[in-house]
Amino acid sequence: MDGFEYRGGELYAEDVPVAAIAEAAGTPTYVYSASAIRSAFESLHRAFAPLRATPHYAVKASANLHLLRLIRGLGAGMDVVSGGELERAWLAGTPMAEVVFAGVGKTDAEIRAALDGRFSPLADEAERLCGRGTEGRGPVGMFNVESRSELERLAAIAGELGVPARVCIRVNPDVDPRTHEYTTTGLDVNKFGVDADLVPALFDAFAGRPRLELAGLHVHIGSPVREVEPYVAAVRVLLGLIETLEAAGHRISALDLGGGWPVDYQAGEAPPIEAYAEALVPLLAARVAGGLEVTLEPGRSIVANAGLLVTRVHHVKHGRRKRFVVCDAGMHTLIRPALYRAFHFVWPARVAPRHLPPVRAARLDLPDLVPCDVVGPVCESADFLARDRELPEVERGDLLAVFSAGAYGMSMTSNYNDHPRPAEVLVDGGEAVVINRRQPPAALLETELEPRALPMGVRRS
Ligand code: LLP
Repeated sequence: MDGFEYRGGELYAEDVPVAAIAEAAGTPTYVYSASAIRSAFESLHRAFAPLRATPHYAVKASANLHLLRLIRGLGAGMDVVSGGELERAWLAGTPMAEVVFAGVGKTDAEIRAALDGRFSPLADEAERLCGRGTEGRGPVGMFNVESRSELERLAAIAGELGVPARVCIRVNPDVDPRTHEYTTTGLDVNKFGVDADLVPALFDAFAGRPRLELAGLHVHIGSPVREVEPYVAAVRVLLGLIETLEAAGHRISALDLGGGWPVDYQAGEAPPIEAYAEALVPLLAARVAGGLEVTLEPGRSIVANAGLLVTRVHHVKHGRRKRFVVCDAGMHTLIRPALYRAFHFVWPARVAPRHLPPVRAARLDLPDLVPCDVVGPVCESADFLARDRELPEVERGDLLAVFSAGAYGMSMTSNYNDHPRPAEVLVDGGEAVVINRRQPPAALLETELEPRALPMGVRRS
């Protein structure tokens, strides 16, 4: 159940018609289902319960504060990759001890903020923003460290502030996740992590450094990973590494398996989360019984199918070879089709009974469908939401739903061509609330207009 279904030809988000949301909020708008988020979180949590694994939601997938509060309320920690995401996790009420801070390019300022809230960019506004100061805010529960250079900086800053830093080293296991080239992260050609054979030397070099606790290992092989086997391969690399490290006298108490858990963009595309757990639990159960703490970093699997994008058709254009359905959403609203050729099921929000989609798939065996490209307003030929798709006939003013858009949708929007960012709406049962206003056009100009001139104190020398 993902919260979106047709009732009498009308698409509903839980108990609210998507068309009513579009009327009230305008388009394009992201619509999320609270129950779909709850049920996805609970499935994952339950599947990995034998490992007592704590899911830390990957904020990058969809970072709206209201969604973070909802997910936090389910008991999730947060996985953040920037100072901005760190602030969001905090504003969502996550104790910093339940935050893991990953990312390949952490700055000194971000490391400081993650160790001690006094260095938060929002520190001065702490009371107003979340009703409490920054005392005791930090350090984060874990730094997932990606390089020797970063570890050096972390050790230095932790020493300087006198604050302890707990660390997992992100391992690059050189495992092929068999996903899109741009979303593999655990191959040795990827910028992420430390090559497995270089990890023991790093432990040897940094063990015993004051304020640094080398607690364990982290891995994230890619996203989405539609097969179980790459995880098994990665975990085997990590288990081998743990043995090597233990033989050298290091104690490994934490293992973070990252995210990448898949969802069905099309029906039947990915194995259920239980299949992943079934393969991984036996590999790790003995270690967990011995006290190993397991962390997961799910993003997509919690929110992808809990969100859709609703967009209005502005023009239908008949070219010599193609029919184009031109909408107000495009690559600036949802970049995944342009960037990864990702598939999103697109269907009108109101359909005749013969056009009710039996499943979400690239091809449906229904009468009177017409081939078209669903495109946006942006001046790029990569600006498409769906290509060579068969849809019921639509006309100007109709609404289309772009499904499975809850992950890496809003969080990857841009202002390209000076389009404001869309609104976000959360539906829970029969209630829909705006959780993010559509960006006002003036906001796009604000940082250019406010300082009327830009004296920088920089001169030709
Ligand atoms: N942990 C780490 C270290 C990650 O790099 C990521 C995603 C996650 C967890 C969460 O992965 P998830 O469970 O959401 O698959 N923009 C791309 C996906 C990029 C993922 C980046 N890292 C997309 O739209 O498919």
